[in-house]
Amino acid sequence: MPRSPANSTLGPLLHKLTQKLGDQQAKNELRWMVDHVRTKLTHPAAHPTIHKAARVWRDQPADKAERMRLTQVQWAWLRQAVRDRAHDKPLQYILGKQAFGRATIFTRPPVLIPRWETEEWVLRLARMIGDSGEKALRVVDMCSGSGCVALALKLELGGLVDVLGVDVSEAAVALALENRKANHAGGVRFKRLDLASREACAELTKEGPWDMIVANPPYVTPQEYVELDPSVRDWEDKRALVPDSDDPMGFIRRLAELASEVSCHTLPSCLPRLVVEIGGSHQVEATQQAMHDNGLNATEVWKDMAGTDRVVLGYSKPK
Ligand SMILES: C[S@@+](CC[C@H](N)C(=O)[O-])C[C@H]1O[C@@H](n2cnc3c(N)ncnc32)[C@H](O)[C@@H]1O
Repeated sequence: MPRSPANSTLGPLLHKLTQKLGDQQAKNELRWMVDHVRTKLTHPAAHPTIHKAARVWRDQPADKAERMRLTQVQWAWLRQAVRDRAHDKPLQYILGKQAFGRATIFTRPPVLIPRWETEEWVLRLARMIGDSGEKALRVVDMCSGSGCVALALKLELGGLVDVLGVDVSEAAVALALENRKANHAGGVRFKRLDLASREACAELTKEGPWDMIVANPPYVTPQEYVELDPSVRDWEDKRALVPDSDDPMGFIRRLAELASEVSCHTLPSCLPRLVVEIGGSHQVEATQQAMHDNGLNATEVWKDMAGTDRVVLGYSKPK
């Protein structure tokens, strides 16, 4: 069977990706890249890095670009994207965005790429809040990163929630602010704050009191970190994964202490006061203990779609 010109042009790119990702994943990712380049990069000015890539690839024959009806600039982007992917750059950084609930989150290294596990519990929590009948809830998203959690809650719940996201990373806060603008979620605030610092409690109290604290904290140990895939280790901020203290449970305890100091106590007992994402069942007991030690007398664990213990919710129930 004669090969189509389009396939013969894409062939080397697919081959390179297949070596890295295997057959099916390579096909999927190349298709997403082509879709992206077709819909987004219709003009050379659409993306500044394209010009750089175009210079790298300018010697490529123009007729190849013709075959896919892509401009040479688009071809240059595609080749660069495949090269980056072969060097473990996550696809979400290449495409520059990731859906998260109703939000479209722009992604940029080294700010953590939003994960499906997080999206899952955030949407479940939003449904829980919506069903509770509460009319006004003040929420802090501790460790807000790209802003995905704060923005998804706002887009799901609208005027029902007032959300503040805090993060130690300047790059993360800058990206969260861009994401706020892109998602027209003007009411959500983001600020830089080191939750391990002495000032954290005073800063949050100044803006409080808060009804609910949610967090996807760094919960990876240094030992687990060295085992992570290079696409994570080489591209995403280590601080987003491993806390500065190297002690994930110490950091979660700190969040529970902060939560107890800055929370008000008017929330109905059907809603959690503190919601913390964890790495799995090995962190459940210590997280529950941290919550109990800080005045939350009931806890619940949510599993993710893969069956892993993913979130611990702490409540204050009437005795
Ligand atoms: C696992 S990421 C979560 C990001 C985002 N919420 C998400 O779900 O994609 C953890 C975040 O915690 C932030 N972080 C780490 N240490 C912190 C600290 N001491 N104070 C505040 N934020 C911190 C990191 O910068 C990172 O953005």
